[in-house]
Amino acid sequence: MQQNWMSRFSDNIKDYDGYAIGKLFKLLSDPETISLAGGLPSPDTFLKDDLQRVSQIRLREDADTIMQYTDISGERNLIQAVIQFLKEDHINISEENIVITSSGQQGLDLTGRLFLNPGDAVILDRPTFAGAIVAFQMQRPAFAGVEIDVDGSDIEGFGEKIGTLTSQNIPVKFIYVVPDFQNPSGISMSVEKREALLDLSYEFDIPIVEDSPYRSLRYHGNNLPSIYELDQNRKGGHVIGVYTFSKLFCPGMRVGFNIGPPEVIVKMTHIKEGNTLNSPKYNQDMCTAFLQEMDWQTHLENCRAYYREKLALFLNTMQEYFPEEMGVSWTKPEGGLFLWATVPERIDTLELFYEAIKFKVAFVPGEVFYGENPAKNHMRINFSYPSKIQLAEAVKRLSGCLRKHL
Ligand SMILES: Cc1ncc(COP(=O)(O)O)c(C=O)c1O
Repeated sequence: MQQNWMSRFSDNIKDYDGYAIGKLFKLLSDPETISLAGGLPSPDTFLKDDLQRVSQIRLREDADTIMQYTDISGERNLIQAVIQFLKEDHINISEENIVITSSGQQGLDLTGRLFLNPGDAVILDRPTFAGAIVAFQMQRPAFAGVEIDVDGSDIEGFGEKIGTLTSQNIPVKFIYVVPDFQNPSGISMSVEKREALLDLSYEFDIPIVEDSPYRSLRYHGNNLPSIYELDQNRKGGHVIGVYTFSKLFCPGMRVGFNIGPPEVIVKMTHIKEGNTLNSPKYNQDMCTAFLQEMDWQTHLENCRAYYREKLALFLNTMQEYFPEEMGVSWTKPEGGLFLWATVPERIDTLELFYEAIKFKVAFVPGEVFYGENPAKNHMRINFSYPSKIQLAEAVKRLSGCLRKHL
């Protein structure tokens, strides 16, 4: 039977053609290709022995509940452990402020579903996290992007966008930011801008969605207060925090949490009823054990030391192989897993990507990190996953590839 499936698909999904980054990754099967494209933490940092130990104990002692359904809003023990964990970051919440998610990506999906009708506007950076664009895109919003500065989002630019959209009667539902070591740029938002963003949120009464997967991975400089904390010190109730255990513990768990006002959290829990029901109990227990029985402070110290070295090596090699006359610039992040390179405007990095594969090196073309009107001359580069030897070699290959195009 011949079916015209396209005509049957929902308006929300029929024009969505799949995650652009995922498609590019399919081209990277050659084992000799060094990929700077992924966003994977290094398995060298994984707490494998701890996980094995805790897992065996839980399976021996608690299999009946591990194998059962559990609360949709999350395991009580994990919620309590997260509340304690956040206290160390000066965030004070109670159970009504948190829903456990099946990781950061679900946290973003719940946010999009909760707030967006087709045509509603989302304010975001140019560039911003591609996964957030995909998650929100499912509700067919209008993306209103503003170029990010070296010290984070252009808050005045956000204000102008909000003014224009409001005057056109387009509802602006939230402002999405990744203030700490943003994916893809590695840029962090200054404290002044965090405060200014809150001013803006209060002035227009628009919530801020603060996505914080990399907050614990600072290699240089001082920790900055989260926007959630700053809001708590002022009016409160204007920020929704999206967190994940992926970079704290390991992505395989697929566990995270959203925090925010009780009304928001209740509704997010209701949305979860319609898709995942509960996040896996076993995985939640492993995350509880991570916070309560593993030495997570030392673990994060070790992660920071490990990635700090890789970042330094990467930046030094970049300096060596991309002399100024090549016209290439790149960000110098103080943490996270990524940096953002800019090549001369005439070079299209999607075309360069296919060339780079021939040189056995890969990156993510910058164009996937824009909600609208993508810029074409950037690349996202990951430095956490390849070994140090591979990182140095990858920079050499990338430089060789680019020189052919200059
Ligand atoms: C900014 C940002 N938000 C959310 C996520 C999604 O996190 P998770 O892998 O836990 O779903 C990522 C993952 O790379 C990210 O970089």
